[in-house]
Amino acid sequence: MKIWIVKTPVEGANKGVAMIQQTLKDCHEQVVFGLATGGTPQTLYRLLSASQLDFSRCIAINLDEYVGLDQENPQSYAYYMNRHLFSKKPFQQTFIPNGMNRNATVETQRYDQILDRYPIDLQILGLGQNGHIGFNEPGTPFESTTHEVQLTESTIAANARFFAQSTDVPRSAYSMGIKSIMAAKQIIIMAYGKAKAAAVKKLVLGPVTTAVPASILQQHPNVTLIVDEAAADQI
Ligand code: GLP
Repeated sequence: MKIWIVKTPVEGANKGVAMIQQTLKDCHEQVVFGLATGGTPQTLYRLLSASQLDFSRCIAINLDEYVGLDQENPQSYAYYMNRHLFSKKPFQQTFIPNGMNRNATVETQRYDQILDRYPIDLQILGLGQNGHIGFNEPGTPFESTTHEVQLTESTIAANARFFAQSTDVPRSAYSMGIKSIMAAKQIIIMAYGKAKAAAVKKLVLGPVTTAVPASILQQHPNVTLIVDEAAADQI
């Protein structure tokens, strides 16, 4: 794992932009990006939106979506992606789980078929305070594919800041599985701030265990971790 310790999220996002630019240069045909939501990648998306980069030959596949939120709901990840990136940088095609499909079997199979059709070249990840990636909560098998997740109380509490009240946070989500994340050719994972320091320590130094989903990234051949000094405090 390559580790970059940066002074600010803007410096980290600039590294991310440079790596994305390199991926675009290296792949002459269609490029498939796996994309994340949450607070962490917002600066990256802002810089990408302001850049000269062209994503018109790119496919975007998002990690996850809340069950029960439609794309017009400002808290949905579909709305987030349109607002922060897709409205400014058109992609050839974008995919995100459909939170309005209450048939989890149908929706998760549909998403796995998309992932089979478009192998991910570069996956962007954030890191949950409990070590989750996507919405793969502690205990998720490493062999998991797309599935419906019951969110933990700590994740609901951490994400409540985006909602008017914590009771508004959906209790479940559809998430790409850990196996699909690990299938990406390259991964960038970003984490900023002291609230992430313990998870970063377990990600980098801890045993590889389903109790810390991100720890499996130690076994991926091409991972870059971008952290600020606060998040890197325990490594
Ligand atoms: C959410 C998302 C993850 C994200 C994580 C960290 O639960 N499902 O994809 O990486 O939390 O979020 P943040 O970047 O806001 O700290």
